[in-house]
Amino acid sequence: MNPPVVHVTGARPNFPKAAPIIAGLEDLGVDQLLVHTGQHYDDRMSDVFFRQLGLPAPDVNLGVGSGSHARQTGAIMAGLEDCFNETEPAAVIVYGDVNSTVAASLVASKMHIPLVHVEAGLRSFDMSMPEEVNRLVTDRLSDLLLVTSPDAIAHLAHEGVPADRIHFVGNPMIDTLLRLLPDVPTRPSVGFDLPDLFVAATLHRPGNVDNLESLLRVRDAMHRTADLAPVVIPVHPRGRAVMEENAFFDHPEIYPVDPLAYLDFVSLMRASACVVTDSGGVQEETTVLGVPCLTLRPNTERPITITHGTNVLTTPERLADDVCEALAPHEGTGDSPIPPLWDGQAGARAAALIARISRE
Ligand code: UD1
Repeated sequence: MNPPVVHVTGARPNFPKAAPIIAGLEDLGVDQLLVHTGQHYDDRMSDVFFRQLGLPAPDVNLGVGSGSHARQTGAIMAGLEDCFNETEPAAVIVYGDVNSTVAASLVASKMHIPLVHVEAGLRSFDMSMPEEVNRLVTDRLSDLLLVTSPDAIAHLAHEGVPADRIHFVGNPMIDTLLRLLPDVPTRPSVGFDLPDLFVAATLHRPGNVDNLESLLRVRDAMHRTADLAPVVIPVHPRGRAVMEENAFFDHPEIYPVDPLAYLDFVSLMRASACVVTDSGGVQEETTVLGVPCLTLRPNTERPITITHGTNVLTTPERLADDVCEALAPHEGTGDSPIPPLWDGQAGARAAALIARISRE
């Protein structure tokens, strides 16, 4: 085996981004190793994605689990240092903006291993988000920065990243969506019969669920929304207990369900009248699906989903009015242009660049 390209994944949103790049490198005959840090470990947050996305089983699972930011990031770093010492990677590939991403970036950089960041250059300019810190550090350390949208190129250029390190490859997460759309069931399996018209919601950001005052504002907004249409919420484990304690689900038209597998979640989004979310990936997926998306955040690092997609930023106070507007019949919905290079070929473009850097 040649020195391998090592992919570091760990949290749910990493998996649909990694799958097309692993497949693209496989097509080019590049030796690869897949590391799972264990940041996410429940079957519903991890294993089911490996199965549905056709990802190979991880070669290494560090099994770090949950913890404070410092403890989790530190445990991943210690595990990866041993792993990289043993495997001597030709390059390390990191995805998105989770703690596994920044941990791997710090270790690879200090071991002088070429570092590739997939989904580089996104900026919310909101340093209260842990993801923004992870993005800034990772981009500063990366040798090859693969971007999903033109705004990301501008951010990186503004921060002084040399142009020859930045490559606009498109959106690998959308490769996965387009590849698996034919397998997506017409109706999601959520354990009960869904009404014809419903709102799908996902909420897990610390800014919405960790702070009690914010949580109560969001709860009241979701109850006003549920007065308009039934709301189905796959509940991320981080928020479940505090949401239950604070009567979040105590409305006859709010239907909490366990986190959904990939295909069921895409089905839920596609079948819904609109999606309410604070996720990053969901803003992109709804853009491609042509489903109205109301993002319950003061900012987004993915503005292209607003300019080229279906996304609108909202607040708890405005949410019910915005849902009302989204539910009203519109002429010409669904025909907004898809962002450039979100065409299902991002993985192949990324793989060609990674193969080159791994052979230098
Ligand atoms: C992480 C990412 C976030 C991403 C989200 C997607 C960071 C800083 N945040 O947030 O950007 O949008 O993943 O899901 O990396 N838990 C379980 N089972 C699991 C995993 C987590 O029960 O398999 C619970 C634990 O109580 C844990 C909590 O969820 O403490 C938070 O998990 P963590 O990985 O720290 O952050 P996420 O909120 O999942």
